[in-house]
Amino acid sequence: MNSQELTHFLQQLHYPNLEKTLEELHLLGRIHVNNAHASIELLTSNNDSFTTLKTFLERTLQHRFNQLDIHAKTPEDHAMQYGHTAQPNNRAPYAKNIIAVTSGKGGVGKSTVSVNLAISLAKKGYRVGLLDSDVYGPNIPRLTNTDTERIRWNDNNQMIPSENFGLKIMSVALTTPRSDTPLVWRSSVAVSALIQFLEDVAWGTLDFLVIDMPPGTGDIQLTMAQELPITAAVLVTTPQIVATDDVSRAIMMFKDIGVPMAGIIENMSYFIAPDTKIRYNIFGSGGGERIAQKYDVPFLGSIPLDMEIREASDSGEPPSALGSSEQKQYYDTLVEQMEAHVSFAL
Ligand SMILES: Nc1ncnc2c1ncn2[C@@H]1O[C@H](COP(=O)(O)OP(=O)(O)OP(=O)(O)O)[C@@H](O)[C@H]1O
Ligand SMILES: [Mg+2]
Repeated sequence: MNSQELTHFLQQLHYPNLEKTLEELHLLGRIHVNNAHASIELLTSNNDSFTTLKTFLERTLQHRFNQLDIHAKTPEDHAMQYGHTAQPNNRAPYAKNIIAVTSGKGGVGKSTVSVNLAISLAKKGYRVGLLDSDVYGPNIPRLTNTDTERIRWNDNNQMIPSENFGLKIMSVALTTPRSDTPLVWRSSVAVSALIQFLEDVAWGTLDFLVIDMPPGTGDIQLTMAQELPITAAVLVTTPQIVATDDVSRAIMMFKDIGVPMAGIIENMSYFIAPDTKIRYNIFGSGGGERIAQKYDVPFLGSIPLDMEIREASDSGEPPSALGSSEQKQYYDTLVEQMEAHVSFAL
């Protein structure tokens, strides 16, 4: 294998557990082969991802070369090289700030947090759009009581977003014959649909575009990071999975592709018995804070497991708009914490 062949080989490799190649993630620096000695420079942004990738490449290449020198580019020149992902496209120039609500695993409460976070922002007088980017499991319309609406177009051939609770709302579920029609799309089609939602929807001017992400670290997350200058990503987790690889993987992916993290929110964190008001830390306490410390990202707070949150959400009555003052407080506090840690453009 000569330098060119090794470069080509590395470009096609997928980053462990991600659907993107090393080339798409811009992780390859100078690559050089001299007889049986290969030197590979990696443009990873932190130690964890460097170690992951180095171990993976050593395993993949050890039988091909006598000597393998895998090193990270030094931080000074690294910052310049990282330009590609640090300067993503901007498909949403109408939005002053873009907040992506993400998680490593499914079912932790991203959609619930997205809706109520968006409403808490709107209550402060901001103009807020809410984009459901979970094309395979869209549930923003149900959570915002807009699921009987269907897509309409304006004279400029733009889709008109639904409106409720002071939000402009767009979801693929508004475009299907019924909101529960399943979509069987390849991810490339899903990605094009989302780009259309960014470009061809009459959002008007927005102070915040809140994006409810699908679970995990796949194509849609990477596309969003490449196509939008995300101001801040909020990572939702639950105490059970706080210590799992999925959370670390999600944090590392965002660090790697240059998306700033607003911080971590621990959802379904503890349980308050409705009758006695006694607080139970069913899954222990402090997990979210520990993981935030470990990865040096802010901890934005915890929201309890509350039966009313689930019931109200499922019937399209978001707690941040229609709940008790305590429930409103959880999401209003999240907004306060975010404003304390991120300098938003307003
Ligand atoms: N704090 C909470 N207390 C009680 N139930 C909650 C809470 N947060 C979310 N839920 C419930 O948990 C379930 C999953 O929440 P949600 O759909 O928001 O998760 P998700 O991360 O968006 O899931 P997916 O990965 O499938 O998109 C829902 O039934 C929701 O009502
Ligand atoms: Mg969801």
